[in-house]
Amino acid sequence: MEKDMGIVSVSRLCQERDLSLLPLPLIQWSLRGSATDQKPEIELEFIGPKPESDGKYPVERAKAISGEKLLRNIMSDNKIELYATYGKVMNCGGGGSCGTCIVEILDGNDLLNERTNTELRYLKKNPESWRLACQTIVGNKENSGKVVVQRIPQWKK
Ligand code: FES
Repeated sequence: MEKDMGIVSVSRLCQERDLSLLPLPLIQWSLRGSATDQKPEIELEFIGPKPESDGKYPVERAKAISGEKLLRNIMSDNKIELYATYGKVMNCGGGGSCGTCIVEILDGNDLLNERTNTELRYLKKNPESWRLACQTIVGNKENSGKVVVQRIPQWKK
């Protein structure tokens, strides 16, 4: 018998044999195993800093596996603008030494890591909802839900 008892191998077994010969507990065990293989995801919504001509704020969306990436990298991977003018040219590349990757978390803060010492240093005079995207881990590998991010909150009117 094959060692890998995932969905594909159960399906192959079903094709090779009469389905009625496959014990039900084996099918149930295989399906349960495949369900736990799915990693939890975090949905992200990014609100633009300025309204468009119709008066609405632009919204971009992305998804990320919980606890695997920094917010900065998720934004970069999805081509979502993070930096204001100065930061576009002078950012430290995610090293935590420039303080230009500022975002505001409008919802879902409980799905993120705590503020790091770097953030406490750079953001001490800013609202608690502000974060540095290069210090912000999205998810903790077990949680899932939705995070709403205000881009470039220093520009918001
Ligand atoms: S990119 Fe420089 S502190 Fe985040």
